[in-house]
Amino acid sequence: MFDLTARVAIVTGGNGGIGLGMARGLARAGARVVVAARNSDKADVAVRELSALGPPAVAIRTDVTVEHSVAELVDEVERRFGRLDILVNNAGINIRGSIQELSLAQWNDVLSTNLSSAFLCARAAYPLMKRQRGGKVINVGSMLSIFGASFAPAYGASKGGIVQLTKSLAVAWAPDAIQVNAVLPGWIDTELTQAGRRQIPGLSERVVARTPAGRWGTPNEFEGIAVFLASPASDFITGAAIPVDGGYSTMV
Ligand code: NAI
Repeated sequence: MFDLTARVAIVTGGNGGIGLGMARGLARAGARVVVAARNSDKADVAVRELSALGPPAVAIRTDVTVEHSVAELVDEVERRFGRLDILVNNAGINIRGSIQELSLAQWNDVLSTNLSSAFLCARAAYPLMKRQRGGKVINVGSMLSIFGASFAPAYGASKGGIVQLTKSLAVAWAPDAIQVNAVLPGWIDTELTQAGRRQIPGLSERVVARTPAGRWGTPNEFEGIAVFLASPASDFITGAAIPVDGGYSTMV
């Protein structure tokens, strides 16, 4: 039920953090992972690690904000492997600041990296998945898909949009047997949050106090959800937004 042998998976930003955590799960379950990321050195390290866990992984240098870069990624995957079964839209950034502090360029940067990227990648992947009569798209949201935060309006808008994009694609592509779901991480210890922990005094302790599980999450805790949402085990689940948050979203 959880076997991903012979499946091909693209993981955007799969060279570190949560993306690499998900990629590890997919590789261990038998999938060939394509790491689509900008930093080639980091991607090469990830590819070596993933290739030790499952079938040989590959890296394809991609900027998910650039339409032709995404098109080339999917073309290259089709040329090399002839199929695409799983797309994980994970790449993301955050630019902190109140709405008054954010420039339009910063707003656009966050929206295009976190939300438009998922549109571009999913749109490019669809013809292959439709032709195969099936596929899995996993979008990465956030607790800010649910809650508001004064310090991250662009990030919150992008992550709220991810959930609604997930639902729209789920409805549109259900007849093609393509399932589209979102994962909403709580506070996870990655490069993205390490910067925040350094900059914001007390953040680390506040997260621990606010999270029922009483700790930060780790990237490897995304292996299981990635395999579940990429495998036949979730074939009748589509349009869902699943928190992986140690209970954060259930506690007032
Ligand atoms: P990270 O910074 O470790 O990983 C993000 C990855 O996206 C990096 O590999 C980065 O190079 C890549 N990326 C950024 N812009 C890109 C572009 N234009 N083209 C290609 N790749 C690009 O951060 P983390 O924490 O692993 O984040 C992964 C996802 O999880 C993001 O969507 C983030 O918003 C989300 N998330 C993270 C949380 C956390 O607590 N760490 C909480 C909620 C959501």
